[in-house]
Parts: sequence; structure tokens; C-alpha cells
Amino acid sequence: MEIARLSTTLGADVIISSRSKSNLDAAIASLPEGVAAYAADATIAQEAAQLLQDLAPLDHIVVTASSGMAASSIPDTSPETAQAAFSRFWMSYHVLHFAPNVMHSSGSITLLSGSSGRRPIAGYGVWSSLHGSIESLVRPAALELAPIRVNAISPGGIGLAPDRQLAHHAGQPIDIAKMAIALITNPAVTSTIVDVDSGERLGTWSGEASAMPSR
Ligand SMILES: NC(=O)c1ccc[n+]([C@@H]2O[C@H](COP(=O)([O-])OP(=O)(O)OC[C@H]3O[C@@H](n4cnc5c(N)ncnc54)[C@H](OP(=O)(O)O)[C@@H]3O)[C@@H](O)[C@H]2O)c1
Repeated sequence: MEIARLSTTLGADVIISSRSKSNLDAAIASLPEGVAAYAADATIAQEAAQLLQDLAPLDHIVVTASSGMAASSIPDTSPETAQAAFSRFWMSYHVLHFAPNVMHSSGSITLLSGSSGRRPIAGYGVWSSLHGSIESLVRPAALELAPIRVNAISPGGIGLAPDRQLAHHAGQPIDIAKMAIALITNPAVTSTIVDVDSGERLGTWSGEASAMPSR
């Protein structure tokens, strides 16, 4: 939402997408005028391909979809549940696979991973491996999709209390949006993963939070 809002403010033509038309209608109602919406399930390869084809030609894509799963450990998570969580990996893969044919070569793709991808915490094994898998897409895709640029943002603790972080600022969605715009607009940045986590990747947080969101 904040990426769409900031992009529109900066003059971009923005299209948002998710599965639910009612979610999209609600989002559009709270965004600046001119934002368009397209409903599709990005876990289904054909729907992702159709979405991208219908919206072509595109300049920049940011993949922010989550799989709505709470943090859990590898021993405690059934293969079926873990596979559902990894739908997020496949959404990113679908975009990287189908987008090059429908994008301007000067464009960029930005993925979203998460701070546990490079700093595992006991009890968060599925998230850690999911975030790591998304980050592992960035460098090979940057090589293979060039000159289209491919980067990722690794968020941590966005919207949560700052008690687990170095910086005295709990990251907010607008902080992610500003980084997304920086990656989109800087033509010299590709194959990069940028941490926006107020420093928690250094091990300042042990995983003991009472209210963690699902991702
Ligand atoms: N907040 C943090 O600190 C943090 C930390 C690490 C990683 N992240 C990651 O950063 C990203 C953005 O976070 P967020 O808090 O904005 O996520 P969010 O509020 O959970 O938003 C997820 C969006 O994904 C859409 N979505 C879910 N499944 C989809 C599908 N199959 N196809 C298309 N769209 C789908 C949802 O809409 P519908 O339900 O309508 O489809 C929703 O709009 C997520 O990937 C999250 O995991 C966040």
C-alpha cells in the first residue's frame, strides 16, 4: 500500500494486485486517485502470466505478497503447511519467469524477503528458509534477466515495538516504500539485498515476541 501511495505521489502510473477484489477495492479507496487494480492469484503460474501479459508493458514490479503463515519451526511444521508457506517463493519465481517478456529492458523487479533469511532464530525455521530461498533468487535472476535489474528488500520488525532493534525507530511501511523507490529509481543498483530492519539482523532480537504477525 505504502509503495503504491508513494509511487503515485511521485507521478508513477501504479497498478496494485492481490487475489481478492474486495481487498483491492478497499485499498483503492484509501489510495490517491488514479491507482488501478487487477485481481489474480500469483501462486498459480497461469494467473501470474496472464496478469503480467494484460498489464504489459511494465517498467517496475515490486512483489510484496505474503503467504499469511505464522512463524513456526521446521520440526513443528508439516510438509503441507511448509509447502503452503513457500507459495511466496513461487510468487516471486513466477514474476521473474514471466516478467522479462512484458517489461522494458530499463525496468526493475524488487522482491521482499525478511531478516530471518540470514539470521535464523529457533522457532522461525520455516520463515528463515523461505526468506533465504527468496534471497537466493536475486543474484542468479539479476544475471539472467539483465539488463532488467533485480533486487530485494529484507524487512524486519516493521510496525513492531523497537525493543528488539539497534535503531531507536521501529520501521514502518513507509520506510520500506522509500527503499523500494530508491531501488526502482537508481539505475546502478542490481543483484542487491537491502536490509530495512533497524539492525535486528545483528542478533539484537531472540525471537521472544508475544505478538508476531503472520507472513
Ligand atoms: N512486516 C515485516 O516486518 C516483515 C518482515 C519480513 C518480511 N515481510 C514481508 O514483506 C512483504 C509485505 O509485508 P506486508 O506486511 O505488507 O504483507 P501483508 O499485509 O500480509 O500483505 C500481503 C498481501 O499479499 C496478498 N496476497 C497473498 N497471497 C496472494 C496471492 N496468492 N496472490 C496475490 N496476492 C496475494 C494479500 O492480498 P489478498 O489476500 O487479497 O490476496 C495482501 O495484500 C510480505 O511478503 C511479508 O512476508 C514483512
